[in-house]
Amino acid sequence: MRVLYVCTELFPLLKTGGLGDVSGALPPALRDAGCDVRVLVPGFPAIRSGVLPSKLQQAPAISLPTRYGPDLAGRGVTQPPVLQQASLPGSGLATYVLDVPALFNRPGNPYYDSHGDNGVRFALVGWAAACLGQGLDAQWQPDVVHCNDWHTGLAPLYLRQMAMPGPPRAASVFTIHNLAYQGIFPRSLFPELGLPDYLFTIGGIEFWGQVSFMKAGLQAADRITTVSPTYAREILEVEQGCGLDGLLRGRSSMVSGILNGVDYRVWSPSHDEVLAHPYDAESVELKAQAKAELQRKLKLQARPNAMVFGVVSRLTEQKGLNLVEAMADELVQMGGQLVVLGTGDAPLEHAFVRAAARHPGQIAVDIGYDEALAHAIMAGCDVILVPSRFEPCGLTQLYGLRYGALPLVHRVGGLADTVVDATPDNLNAGRATGFVFDEFSAPALRGALKRAFELHAQPAAWAKLQKTAMQQRFDWREAAIQYVALYRSMKPEAA
Ligand code: ADP
Ligand code: GLC
Repeated sequence: MRVLYVCTELFPLLKTGGLGDVSGALPPALRDAGCDVRVLVPGFPAIRSGVLPSKLQQAPAISLPTRYGPDLAGRGVTQPPVLQQASLPGSGLATYVLDVPALFNRPGNPYYDSHGDNGVRFALVGWAAACLGQGLDAQWQPDVVHCNDWHTGLAPLYLRQMAMPGPPRAASVFTIHNLAYQGIFPRSLFPELGLPDYLFTIGGIEFWGQVSFMKAGLQAADRITTVSPTYAREILEVEQGCGLDGLLRGRSSMVSGILNGVDYRVWSPSHDEVLAHPYDAESVELKAQAKAELQRKLKLQARPNAMVFGVVSRLTEQKGLNLVEAMADELVQMGGQLVVLGTGDAPLEHAFVRAAARHPGQIAVDIGYDEALAHAIMAGCDVILVPSRFEPCGLTQLYGLRYGALPLVHRVGGLADTVVDATPDNLNAGRATGFVFDEFSAPALRGALKRAFELHAQPAAWAKLQKTAMQQRFDWREAAIQYVALYRSMKPEAA
């Protein structure tokens, strides 16, 4: 089974969130599951410097046909776009780098639209994927093109549109990592996409008078997946459907949820380079040292018994952290400490900074992005807070489980699928792994926090909970097996 995995971020080279982690881990897991996998990624600076030095000398660059597809004239693109062939450092996976410096070799966040040309840039990603799916590389034609989020949404559509006589085109899978980000562009983009006019309609990619890349993916993909079974159900309803629930209901027999995994080579306290004192489920008492180090590093009072709550997150509406901010004073009054690492919406950033100023030594806030600190927080905190309004899967709660930082989560999306609430029944049955609250409100969060404090005051019960949490496994191997079965359902004949 030949699989082209199309993504726009790739851990460890380029990551803005969970999508980067997934793209770094799933393709190697698919290879381990027997697929012949290649990756397609745009040549952002971090990708150029990380991947291009390993260019495959025997595999020349491939020029992309531009007769159809997005119109690059007037966009500063003087050279025809090419796909460089290289291998990924680490996994060694064969990779096509969409190398168009005028469009992608720009510093900063890969999605930041500094030149007002994101529509064309990401259409080109879709076009490149579709061309490969149609057999552009004579040496290697994929059976399946696996796309991720709106940035790749035009790939399934181009693939459908350009179907030509000759070898059958690749089948397409479109994975929704977050339905809330849709890649919406003004109507004026449409003529630049090289698509027939009839596609600018409600049955095509028109969305309230604009162009939607997410909708393109959802309309045209042969299969749609998302990153947890619960979110796969939620997006079929108005509340979480982001205006696309009707379309998704119409295609619901093509929609499924496959839970993300964890790359335990990167996220395991037993061999985490950031930790001075590694630990595992059998030596969880060593976690106290990670806590002391975290308190020292972030200038929190050195209180071994304080319950430390951690947040590692984008500070956006989705993550529900306004509830945590509203509870910050109470949390300190109850004897807790709070550590926040994140960037995002300015008002929330400022509110957390003010909370830290009110409670020096008890609340530490780092407005920024810091991979090493994220690991130190997982190891050093007792509870990781993920009170998201909605959460397609969520990886931080899975990392928390592994590090014995018990997740406290809102019962939604992938959070509902991965955390077992510490109810008396679940505790007795030895299956509890964290704290789950139902209603998205400050009182509901308060209730869960109180339960956490009560249990923390019972060291034996807490230790048992931690051990159960640390023993959970969310292996990419499991997810890969499900993706391969999905690919097979479309291409039973593929080798
Ligand atoms: P999302 O993709 O919606 O942001 P996930 O929980 O799936 O949420 O993944 C978030 C990823 O980004 C995790 O690897 C988390 O550790 C990381 N992360 C988020 N914010 C930061 C930050 N400020 N510094 C370092 N890592 C962060
Ligand atoms: C998105 C979602 C998150 C998910 C991640 C990886 O960013 O918000 O829930 O874990 O993608 O699939």
